Amino acid sequence: MRSVIPDYLSEAVGRVESDASGQLADYIPELAAADPERLGAVFATVDGEVYGAGDVDTEFTIQSISKPFAYALALADRGFDPVLAKVGVEPSGEAFNHISLESDTGRPFNPMINAGAITTHSLAGAEGLTPTERVERVVRGLSAFAGRELRLDEAVCVSEMEHANRNLAIAYMLRGYGILAEDPRAVVEGYTRQCSVLVTARDLAMMAATLANRGVNPLSGERVVGERVVRQVLSVMSTCGMYDAAGDWATQVGIPAKSGVAGGLIGALPGQIGIATFSPRLDAHGNSVRGVSLFERFSSDMGLHVMDVPPAARAIVRSNHVVGDGPNAVRVFELQGGIGFAGAERVVRETVNTAPEEVRVVLDLSRVYAIDDVARRMVLEVVRRLTLDGHEMYLVDPESILPDPDPGDGGRVTVVRDVEHAVMA
Ligand code: DON
Repeated sequence: MRSVIPDYLSEAVGRVESDASGQLADYIPELAAADPERLGAVFATVDGEVYGAGDVDTEFTIQSISKPFAYALALADRGFDPVLAKVGVEPSGEAFNHISLESDTGRPFNPMINAGAITTHSLAGAEGLTPTERVERVVRGLSAFAGRELRLDEAVCVSEMEHANRNLAIAYMLRGYGILAEDPRAVVEGYTRQCSVLVTARDLAMMAATLANRGVNPLSGERVVGERVVRQVLSVMSTCGMYDAAGDWATQVGIPAKSGVAGGLIGALPGQIGIATFSPRLDAHGNSVRGVSLFERFSSDMGLHVMDVPPAARAIVRSNHVVGDGPNAVRVFELQGGIGFAGAERVVRETVNTAPEEVRVVLDLSRVYAIDDVARRMVLEVVRRLTLDGHEMYLVDPESILPDPDPGDGGRVTVVRDVEHAVMA
């Protein structure tokens, strides 16, 4: 059987193909020479499966899509406080190249507008790098997100530098406010080189999938940045990634995203997939026209909006029953699925409401595939409290979902392979 996903993607791409609206970015002459008909879409799952349709291996410059990744590198390299001291996280509601800084601090509003991105570029890598070393750090970092070695398009870079007056003006203003500590021209050159990195839609989907996969590249297995950094980056993408169209995007598409003026567009759906589209004609906000249409379709066809409410945690307690009778009776709470706070609350409530009479109590985790940190602590606290109430506690945990369980102060638990072992104990 053929997979349904490439067929779905081909159909989706086919539906937007005839839309010739929008304009090529012409403020960078080299971009105005791009083939406007190019069109591609790629899905990359968090376990590394890649599906594509159309022009998935055509190279184009990453442009502003580099911004969230450079921000991730700056946060990872310098830490949160030094970066937040120089770049805010508030949506500006302005165009990407708007010359705006916070009136009191002089900080750029966020790392997705050019003022913030130019500053962020200057914060990538360790302190004291030369401009060349910093660009190397950024290109190496972007390559780690993509899982292959990326290179620059020198012609696009030169072409943009020849028309970079606006970015230079922004950088000089940033220098005036003490936000940039270095020569503004050198920083703009570095930032422009960062924007000139060549990628394909396949690369971009993998970069987005690395964010969706908590910072680990699904194919290389490399941890590129930590989970806290990823959370920060995805948050900023969801509020600021689409500039003055961010609100429309958040309500209609609802996927943390970033666009670039060469026609790329990425979305990262936490825990699920990275998506990338490529189509060079842009709307008035500088976002790819057919890319936006494709994302709108993907989101509504497949329920990818991050604010779609997930199924309730009700089914976490699969059963609550007694095995055996008399003094040998054992109370079994059989749990299932992935357990987060709401699921753990169901477990707490079930055990409290049941107030088991049986001495032996089993929490059967054999059908649980994941448990997050808060749920782990809550389940262990249930174990501790039931121990203090006089119960003998057992965990059925054949796959070590709760490795080395330590219920703490006064709690005790025996890990067994199956319920039978608790009954025989
Ligand atoms: O700073 C610039 O003008 C470009 N190199 C990047 C702009 C960009 O991609 C804006 N996004 N839609």
